[in-house]
Amino acid sequence: MSKELALVAPSASNAPRYAHVVGWGMYVPEKIVTNDDISKLVETSDEWIQTRTGIKQRRVASEHESTSTFAIEAARRALAKANVSPADVDLIIVGTSSPEHLFPSTACIVQDALGAKNAGAYDLLAACTSFIYGLSQAANSIKTGDITTALVIGSEALTKLMDWSDRGTCILFGDGAGAFVLQARSEPGGFMNSFLRSDGSGGPSLILPAGGSAMPATTKTVVENQHYVKMNGREVFRFATRVMASACQEAVRRSGLEMDDIDIFVPHQANKRIIDAASKKLKLAPEKVVVTLENYGNTSAASIPIAICEAINKGQIKQNQTLMLVAFGAGLTWGAGVLKWDVPPPAPPTRRQEAQRNLYYRWARVKSVLRRVVRSLEARIFGNSK
Ligand code: COA
Repeated sequence: MSKELALVAPSASNAPRYAHVVGWGMYVPEKIVTNDDISKLVETSDEWIQTRTGIKQRRVASEHESTSTFAIEAARRALAKANVSPADVDLIIVGTSSPEHLFPSTACIVQDALGAKNAGAYDLLAACTSFIYGLSQAANSIKTGDITTALVIGSEALTKLMDWSDRGTCILFGDGAGAFVLQARSEPGGFMNSFLRSDGSGGPSLILPAGGSAMPATTKTVVENQHYVKMNGREVFRFATRVMASACQEAVRRSGLEMDDIDIFVPHQANKRIIDAASKKLKLAPEKVVVTLENYGNTSAASIPIAICEAINKGQIKQNQTLMLVAFGAGLTWGAGVLKWDVPPPAPPTRRQEAQRNLYYRWARVKSVLRRVVRSLEARIFGNSK
């Protein structure tokens, strides 16, 4: 598809609408932690981690970084790529298991930082499957005509929730974010169909026990390390290898395609052995499979958009290819989706556009501060009266 696809505004007409990806962006923190670095903390080795997982290194948040700072940067990059103004975004979904707070949502913090004044915003927690759940929800809202433009973000600072003395978990995870801008178009394509599933009976396999209403924070929960991720790795491994292939087959079937129509397979980047098992079951040639976990580890909800951004940069994903995405995670949750990568690569922003965009974000920050000041003045003047 070479011509520019026309944007479709929400309307009363029943003309079909499709949810195309028009912008994408990723952000990872600068700090790199290698397997050798981890072997100084727990009894493990680079050789063991690489053989059992395929991971060589991961990015780790610094003290001043968090899930929202990653999400905001990835979102800004995606919006710049799409040349879409934050004011045109109708919906922001942030998939994360390491939110900034229990509430307010990380999505609202992102909304404020972007100055996305016309957007609804919420977090979505389907663990590592969150990005596919988010794409599915955003695409459906676009297809029904509820909205025109959505920002779907997967962002994690999970290393802050790791027990760095537990070698069963701390070797696996990394931090970062990826974001997509989805927009309504009248031409068929974009996010086609998905298959989403869950099985709550497997919840204890991968859990962060404390900090919620079941186990509020107390001195005891802190002393007992209950605020860290706990995982039964073998159970999760067996579950993942059981569900991935069938989820993909169902998403492909629902999209009216055959497995041979799939050009690129983007699996959740948790473990190379899990990816290999799924690729083998689906009879996919290695060149069709995107693997980025050696550099980033498992970035949970961010893993699929980061993998896609990396594959685009390397030239593995090209225009007009059909992508099959699949993920699994805590919940238990799993899901697959089919995405036509069919919008022409956007022209790089001009200096003027970049300057305008930066000005917009600065102004959004000023307005946010002003609103906070007004709120505190109101509280001083009116006290508790309405
Ligand atoms: N370094 C060295 N040895 C380790 C180790 C580590 N980091 N972690 C575990 N071991 C040891 C175990 O103690 C065990 O020793 P034992 O045989 O003496 O009891 C041995 O290695 C094998 O342990 P096992 O748990 O069977 O390893 P595994 O091959 O299943 O690999 C995982 C462990 C965690 C890498 C693997 O189970 C996995 O990736 N599971 C899926 C996890 C996942 O994807 N989670 C995120 C979901 S979104």
